[in-house]
Amino acid sequence: MTITYKDETGIAGMRVAGRLASEVLDFLAPHVKPGITTNELDMLAHGYMVDVQGTVPAPLNYAPSGYNPYPKSICTSVNHQVCHGIPNDKALKKGDIVNIDITVIKDGWHGDTSRMFLVGETSIAARRLCAMTFEAMWHGIQQVRPGARLGDIGHAIQRFAEDNGFSVVREFCGHGIGRVFHEEPQVLHYGKPGTGVELLPGMTFTIEPMINAGKRDIKELGDGWTIVTKDHSLSAQWEHTVLVTPTGYEVLTLSDGSPPTPAFVAASFSAA
Ligand code: MF3
Ligand code: CO
Ligand code: CO
Repeated sequence: MTITYKDETGIAGMRVAGRLASEVLDFLAPHVKPGITTNELDMLAHGYMVDVQGTVPAPLNYAPSGYNPYPKSICTSVNHQVCHGIPNDKALKKGDIVNIDITVIKDGWHGDTSRMFLVGETSIAARRLCAMTFEAMWHGIQQVRPGARLGDIGHAIQRFAEDNGFSVVREFCGHGIGRVFHEEPQVLHYGKPGTGVELLPGMTFTIEPMINAGKRDIKELGDGWTIVTKDHSLSAQWEHTVLVTPTGYEVLTLSDGSPPTPAFVAASFSAA
């Protein structure tokens, strides 16, 4: 596998898929309340993708080598779950935090994005973790421009997270994305400036830091998918799909319901 550089046709396809992925989150947002089960969120999302958008939920039956086919259409990772949580019949309760991760396929192109949702009133610590993880993602995004390197992205995220007393999960990373869900390159959320693959216009990849309130160590549950923190500390994640443009970046997974871009993000590098 190699890095794919998208031409104007590919970029147009990725823009549509990215916006649609984000719109699934907009659609789900009002439903994320105490009492709803993650299975209900999965069914709502599935219906919206297939019947309203005409998109394909990429996670459903996704089976990378070494994994069982993923059984649901979305990922829902609650509290100490880091990523790849499988929707189930347990209701969300006041104080939970949940990451909902959506990947749609439209006309063969993938859009991949996730947000944190606060269920009812949450602890200050939980809110701070979610807000700081959002900012960590944007510190990474801000590094994206031709000539920068992947290590610049990882370093910006790691420095911000660790300076605020959090830890960065190492075992999972962002990824190239296009006609293939997970393609090269791997986008680590830690690293050294000036190292790694050089960014060039036409690259599309995700930035999706997983940040823990406690130690960075993780373990996989017996279902073969769900990742949790070893110390059971809270974990948060946000994800965008981005395009490297000739002058900087374009975030492809924005929609009307996206949270506002942080004030520290330079206006000149906002979405074209
Ligand atoms: N959407 C996840 C990512 O950001 C991957 C989920 S794979 C699944 O890369 F099979 F669990 F859905
Ligand atoms: Co992803
Ligand atoms: Co994702």
